[in-house]
Amino acid sequence: MSVPEYFELENGDRMPRVGFGTWQTSEDVLEKAVDAALNAGYRHFDSARAYENEKGLGRALSRWIGDNEEKRKQLFIVTKLPPGGNRPDVVDEYFSGSLSDLGLSYIDMYLMHTPFSFEHIPGDLHPKNPDGSMKVDLTTDIVSTWKEMLKLKESGRVKHLGVSNVNEEQLKRLTAIAKPECLQVEVHILCQQAPLLEAAKRLGIPVVAYSPLGSRALADLLASKTGRVFPNQLELPAVQKIAQKYSRTPAQVLLRYLLQHGVAVIPKSTDPTRIKQNISVWDFELSESEMKELRALDRGEAGRICDFGFFGGVEKHPEFPFKNRT
Ligand SMILES: NC(=O)c1ccc[n+]([C@@H]2O[C@H](COP(=O)([O-])OP(=O)(O)OC[C@H]3O[C@@H](n4cnc5c(N)ncnc54)[C@H](OP(=O)(O)O)[C@@H]3O)[C@@H](O)[C@H]2O)c1
Repeated sequence: MSVPEYFELENGDRMPRVGFGTWQTSEDVLEKAVDAALNAGYRHFDSARAYENEKGLGRALSRWIGDNEEKRKQLFIVTKLPPGGNRPDVVDEYFSGSLSDLGLSYIDMYLMHTPFSFEHIPGDLHPKNPDGSMKVDLTTDIVSTWKEMLKLKESGRVKHLGVSNVNEEQLKRLTAIAKPECLQVEVHILCQQAPLLEAAKRLGIPVVAYSPLGSRALADLLASKTGRVFPNQLELPAVQKIAQKYSRTPAQVLLRYLLQHGVAVIPKSTDPTRIKQNISVWDFELSESEMKELRALDRGEAGRICDFGFFGGVEKHPEFPFKNRT
């Protein structure tokens, strides 16, 4: 099954289906990784105010762009409104901070990072109570935030708007106001999100899969705190067998599966060899029977890794998207 290398957005702009993830990386390490990613051919970069490393991405991008505006046009830069920004009066402030740290005059795609919210405390993107739980603001709503985000697009500083971590009902609610141009959610072989992907397809919204390799660092952290078991997706026998057959790495098989599954992928790596491997997924193809075998590994909701359990208290927010976490 051939897969286009881009999602074509409604105005004709192209979002590359393989992007580069930037979470859980210090500014300096990220800067070097982005140099390697640009050399390897990545043009889509996924950032977020909440990752607290936008300056590192910005430095590498500015170096690559130089004073050549044509090169800027080749990039597709995504960043996100942090959970503390889900209120109309501060959307512009958070957005301007991202734009400035990234050193750009516009963002290609701006996402609402989460439907739940923290309190807005300037200078503290992850405000905590003395007991370690998050300072959650239960009064915010995604509709007024989304309406404010639409103004950023009208101003020309953002080309496209989207959402992340919303459920189907929330996606439909926001679509009734203005259709998001991207849905970024956790999708990998153990959590394939069939109903949500179907809903996005019906609405005509491209899906970007985060944690496409199973987010090992997060999985290990959660396993140590909760005792939950998160299988290493790179070591699953079916993945290893197919990787051997095509002389590819297990990561390439996982990414190729997702591309053929219809979603874009944004793997994160700081290792130059892996960075190159993760974008080299266009010259082999999984058969329908291999797709079926990998599809069967789905664990549904039980396979979700990023349920925001590390943000104690957010499950009380009326817009918390995952109903199975109480
Ligand atoms: N919207 C959201 O709420 C949200 C949530 C989570 C993630 N994201 C985005 O999605 C991106 C990707 O997700 P993620 O960072 O959670 O996890 P991921 O991309 O699934 O996995 C990253 C892990 O896999 C390792 N890795 C990368 N390539 C590999 C390879 N070829 N072979 C073996 N190991 C490899 C990395 O280690 P090395 O660095 O050592 O290679 C890292 O430990 C994030 O960086 C972020 O941009 C968004």
